[in-house]
Amino acid sequence: MNHFLLFIFFLSSFLTFGKVRFVRVVFNSIASEEATIIWHQESGEFTRFIYSEGEPKTESSDKMKLIYKISSTNKARGFNTHILRLTNLKPNTKYSFKIVDTEEEGKHFYFSTCSNSPNDRISFIAGGDSRDRSVIRRKANVLVSKLKAHAVLFNGDFTGLDLPHQWVEWFTDWEYSISADGRITPLVVTRGNHELSNSILVKLFDVPSRGVYYSTEFGGNLLNLVSLNSEILKIGVQKIFLALTLKKHEDFIWQIAQYHRPIRPHVKHKKEMETQYRNFVPLFEKYSNLRLCLENDSHTCKITWPIVSSKEEGSSEGFVRNDEKGIVYAGEGCWGAPLRAADDFKPWTRDAAAVNQFNWIFIAQDKIELRTVLYENAEDVAELTEETRFSMPLNINLWNPSNGNLVEIFQQKNRNIK
Ligand SMILES: [Fe+2]
Repeated sequence: MNHFLLFIFFLSSFLTFGKVRFVRVVFNSIASEEATIIWHQESGEFTRFIYSEGEPKTESSDKMKLIYKISSTNKARGFNTHILRLTNLKPNTKYSFKIVDTEEEGKHFYFSTCSNSPNDRISFIAGGDSRDRSVIRRKANVLVSKLKAHAVLFNGDFTGLDLPHQWVEWFTDWEYSISADGRITPLVVTRGNHELSNSILVKLFDVPSRGVYYSTEFGGNLLNLVSLNSEILKIGVQKIFLALTLKKHEDFIWQIAQYHRPIRPHVKHKKEMETQYRNFVPLFEKYSNLRLCLENDSHTCKITWPIVSSKEEGSSEGFVRNDEKGIVYAGEGCWGAPLRAADDFKPWTRDAAAVNQFNWIFIAQDKIELRTVLYENAEDVAELTEETRFSMPLNINLWNPSNGNLVEIFQQKNRNIK
């Protein structure tokens, strides 16, 4: 029955939206200046991309810009993927667009660039591990459409086996994240162990690095988001990249790292990631503006207290709590994948439980606020606007463990940990 319904959905989306399918937006460089639009050209030939400032309703023909040339195309996993990179965008600006092909005019969408001022806050939704469970992950996607975050940080394991039909289902479900008025929340992605190659992230999401490690800047010098790759060597070029980007952004107000596999999973049978502990953590800890790491993979939910690496007495699994200088590690992957019990608490675990959730993160100059949203009641949650995106919508269901539903991470005065 489910397959039948899925088939009807595919058919209806085909009939309604025509030949351009699975439109998504990614940030992969400077989120106030650049964005990439990606889609599957199912039939017909691309003829032009039309865009202008403002929402579709406010579009006026004299301000329209046209692009006739695609940046690149590829056929990975059977898609006819078209990639179009937009540069020289204005900060904090809505851009409406449509993709016109030889068969139809296309549907209106819009997205927003980020501010280039650190005085403006940023809202992120962060999570991963959607795998192939449509019913649950669609709920998360519906909530994405309502919270109007600046971006979704999607931290790997999109599908079960990286198969073409599973990607069709993933992109079909991702369309639930598009608001009724056509707003698309841009993605910043990493690779999980269920993505079988680096190149699939490059081809489907225009990741700007063949090794799938890269930086994205938000809010001028407010934030450098470092996306790392758990599936390749942690030494060599990736480690050099990490050292260089952290150094380059040491005067930014914040840096955040995201990578798929948790260094210290909160599910017992999951492997400890010693290579990340040895190669990533010492670099993270060199920079006092890096105080949050986002991890996934385990299919459970955890947030640590601020911790620093230590082998001293009182430490556990190589870390000890340090509220002043520590890094908070949050995640661990519940965007629809089958939940696993959080059965590996540490002394420095703040809270953990097996719940379907994603993190909702507000970044300001003086602090980062992190909440965990239980998204299963997405249909009942009131819809925010870009103007109200930092308020709590009616019926939002926050995870409220014993240590509270709000994690606050403050700036450090002392810049050197060691
Ligand atoms: Fe994973």
